[in-house]
Amino acid sequence: MHVRPGRERDLPGIVVIYNHYVRRSPASFEVLAVGVEDRRDWFEAHAQGGRHQLWVAADDRGRILGWATTSPFRPRAAYATTVESSVYCRTDSLHRGLGTALYSALFHAIRDEDIERIVAAVTLPNPASIGLHRSFGFRPVGVFTRVGRKLGRYWDVAWFERPRVLPSVRNASTEGVRTPAASRSGPPGRHRDIDDDAAPDAERETERELLDDRLPDSFLREEPEPTRARGRGRREAPARPSTLGRRTVRIGTG
Ligand SMILES: CC(C)(COP(=O)(O)OP(=O)(O)OC[C@H]1O[C@@H](n2cnc3c(N)ncnc32)[C@H](O)[C@@H]1OP(=O)(O)O)[C@@H](O)C(=O)NCCC(=O)NCCS
Repeated sequence: MHVRPGRERDLPGIVVIYNHYVRRSPASFEVLAVGVEDRRDWFEAHAQGGRHQLWVAADDRGRILGWATTSPFRPRAAYATTVESSVYCRTDSLHRGLGTALYSALFHAIRDEDIERIVAAVTLPNPASIGLHRSFGFRPVGVFTRVGRKLGRYWDVAWFERPRVLPSVRNASTEGVRTPAASRSGPPGRHRDIDDDAAPDAERETERELLDDRLPDSFLREEPEPTRARGRGRREAPARPSTLGRRTVRIGTG
């Protein structure tokens, strides 16, 4: 398996992966399948290096197994130093470290860019995505409730954030900071894109807060209320129990 910057000829493989989630999953809030032609401008916007990049994982035959991007967060100019990260893997290649490999490469590639924050949105429930983001030092910020309607029901979306570069586990642990990855897996170095020298002392106080394992109360809800979709008189699927409670999700809370 190789992880490398995306090329235009990767677009068919990228689109196949993405359309699976567009059609069948709330992981993407797009509802109409995209075509390769639709994605050419998107590709160009991620192909110049800089803040917005596309990385792919491919097998030895060149088949695309997954991809990850950093993209603009919001269009207004002052948001330019914030990027939103996304990652999608083939359904037959989940939970084998692909997402980790993609984020490692992507975040390393942007480590010298003029980026202050990386943010990520996760439609709930999605334990794998939460696990991935926590293992890269993303801090849960909050949950927007019922902000998307897809597949016959409304979905909550959790937002996560992290600085572009995390302090090293070595430095963090000597200062008593438990990073999510370090707390789960023990040995330093589980933060795959950490820059040992990049966190000046002045930033560490902020990093300490960002890496704090405490979760907002809203992340600990057990059972969302069953709800009815408005406006079209149709009943939503019964709400599934949240998998974001402490009992069911490994999110680095120890
Ligand atoms: C989310 C996704 C990108 C993660 O990639 P992946 O290759 O499956 O994940 P990895 O194997 O690299 O594991 C990443 C972390 O998540 C954890 N994790 C993976 N699957 C998990 C699961 N089902 N439940 C709980 N944690 C899980 C892993 O333990 C790992 O943490 P660790 O390194 O601290 O042990 C992938 O599952 C995917 O493409 N899902 C569908 C699309 C999607 O939801 N994309 C994200 C949109 S926000």
